[in-house]
Amino acid sequence: MAITRTEENVSAIEGNVTGRDLSFYNVNARQTLDDAARKLIINYAGVAPEKVDEHVEAVREKAFAIFPYPCIGMFRFLDLSLLQTEVYPEVVRRVEEGEKLLDLGCCFGQEIRQLVSDGVPSENLYGADLREDFMAMGYDLFDDRKTLRTKFIAADVFDDNSDLNQLYGEISMVYTGSFFHLFHYDEQVAVAKRIIQILKPETGVTIIGRQMGNEKSGDYEAAGYVGEKQRFRHNADSWEELWNKVGDETGTKWKTEAVLEDPGVGMGEVEKKLTERRKEGGARRLKFVVRRL
Ligand SMILES: C[S@@+](CC[C@H](N)C(=O)[O-])C[C@H]1O[C@@H](n2cnc3c(N)ncnc32)[C@H](O)[C@@H]1O
Repeated sequence: MAITRTEENVSAIEGNVTGRDLSFYNVNARQTLDDAARKLIINYAGVAPEKVDEHVEAVREKAFAIFPYPCIGMFRFLDLSLLQTEVYPEVVRRVEEGEKLLDLGCCFGQEIRQLVSDGVPSENLYGADLREDFMAMGYDLFDDRKTLRTKFIAADVFDDNSDLNQLYGEISMVYTGSFFHLFHYDEQVAVAKRIIQILKPETGVTIIGRQMGNEKSGDYEAAGYVGEKQRFRHNADSWEELWNKVGDETGTKWKTEAVLEDPGVGMGEVEKKLTERRKEGGARRLKFVVRRL
């Protein structure tokens, strides 16, 4: 059965966030942006070095007013996570050779800009997100409305009739950062099946990503949120089981490589404190690569 979502109930999808304002996060761009983020804004977006902090802070403020994701409060949208993976050189090579990559839940499209900055053809890259306004804000952050040839698709991953249909069977790699962890287990199964529809039906297609995990897999209430919303957090075994299940149900086979790592590689002091608290409850970051056999 299709799980249909509309823009009107977007907040219900994401859960109720606590009534925090930006000051809760008590961080600024100067303390928080790392060298890679700063380099991207200077070299790719063409912002003068002394203007970077002000530029990034203005976009963060606008985005937080649209939806107050903790990761926006904490500048995580410039934590270039694909760049930090071991498979980044493989991803660059494959896109240069003509394979297509989709960033699912791309937010501002920062991973896409990093790839373009590293020379890959932007027309081989796609971004999809529920929120068109976040993707539009990416053009403001990176000042590339006129040059970027990447197609951004506003779509709810659960909607069977969304514009994601255009990509079915076309994509070789899907990157998905901080995305699966937004959902219940059954919803994660539905997301995985959607990704399988989007990928080319062939050996070697690849899913890369990272998300909050836990040493003990199960349902957890998301930090920064209140209310009923529970999200499923994986360890390497439960992540493999999920892909075995969707494989059985779709007649496909998947090999997962997943590791739990310290979640402390965050941005900002507040996150460090939150992280210490979460770690006591077994929270870790799950990094993964899933390949079709
Ligand atoms: C926590 S952010 C992660 C953004 C980015 N991938 C990163 O790693 O920083 C989750 C993103 O998923 C998008 N999203 C949430 N629910 C969605 C849905 N049902 N379909 C498509 N995108 C969704 C949000 O709008 C948001 O941009």
